[in-house]
Amino acid sequence: MSADNGEALNLEDWQFGSFSIDDLQLLDKDIMDRITITTPDDWHLHLRDGEALRTVVAHSAAQFARAIVMPNLTPPVITTALAQAYRKRILSAVPSQSLFDPLMTLYLTDNTDPDEIRRAKNSNIVLAAKYYPAGATTNSDSGVTDIGRCHAVLQAMADEGLPLLIHGEVTDPAIDVFDREKVFIERELIGIVERYPTLSIVLEHITTSHAAQFVASARPNVGATITAHHLLLNRNAIFQGGVRPHHYCLPVLKREEHRQALLKAAISGDPKFFLGTDSAPHERGTKECDGGCAGVYTAHAALEFYAEVFDAAGALDRLEGFASHHGADFYGVPRNTTRIALERSEWRVPGSFPYGEGQLVPLRAGATAAWKVVAS
Ligand code: NCD
Ligand code: ZN
Repeated sequence: MSADNGEALNLEDWQFGSFSIDDLQLLDKDIMDRITITTPDDWHLHLRDGEALRTVVAHSAAQFARAIVMPNLTPPVITTALAQAYRKRILSAVPSQSLFDPLMTLYLTDNTDPDEIRRAKNSNIVLAAKYYPAGATTNSDSGVTDIGRCHAVLQAMADEGLPLLIHGEVTDPAIDVFDREKVFIERELIGIVERYPTLSIVLEHITTSHAAQFVASARPNVGATITAHHLLLNRNAIFQGGVRPHHYCLPVLKREEHRQALLKAAISGDPKFFLGTDSAPHERGTKECDGGCAGVYTAHAALEFYAEVFDAAGALDRLEGFASHHGADFYGVPRNTTRIALERSEWRVPGSFPYGEGQLVPLRAGATAAWKVVAS
């Protein structure tokens, strides 16, 4: 049977000795040792400021073309002018050969003015605004105490086409820490989605089956980012052989069934789900102490971690959509035109990186990663 004899090629009928075409496709997946994809973007990233920028910006710039930069500095990035100044500081830390483009965000407070939203939109460097419920996570003290107070701002965002990025956890101390995302969806998110039908919303770093299901069944302009660590780890990792502060982040890691639900969403091909590392560096001493900070650092090997997860799920062919297409399409910006290659090749992750005066302990410190970015 050949394709040039005028007959349509029917792959179903194709037999190779004792193999059917299905067997061959499986074999092909098993030996896929190198992939090339459109250069990805990171749609949720913490870069910090000052000396810290030197370490972390280079890591992200080595793998990602663009990143949504979170505004939770101290003091937070609450105006377009502050975002412009912060962007300049980031750019001055980008390695000279890199074209890494930081996409800025505004930090919403109870007092954000709708005019600030219009300024942000007109700046062309601010792509979104972030809603941190006050007290929900690192540097969220100036966040919003009651979203009901932000009506004019949310309406301005809907009108201007500026997406709302949400840290989706309630802060009510009566709510179990593992249920805070689910309760946020019930108490707040459903209402926001209904009240502002034209507002684009990203539920950031989703961690539960409830969030995955909510987003999958919501209207098209409601999406979600998924981190590498929530795809790799379940909550057992926080207590593996003792308390593991470098696995503590917010929203906190959840049960295995939730990790499975996130994985299903990530590899589903559904364009509502896209890559956002939430890579969140903290100096070693501020994590390895009483009341240590929340945040997992993954930017040193982010794409490799996602490749590992997609590979283990037999879904490497879905990595490009999740990492490089869906986020750009959601934000309405062009997809990148460059490409990046990854190889199945074990390498040892450093035990730490220099971080200002101190050290930064990355995910997998001192252990091996299964994939390596080889060329970009
Ligand atoms: C983030 C940080 O350190 O800035 N921490 C975290 O655990 N994810 C803040 C955040 O995104 O919640
Ligand atoms: Zn974050």
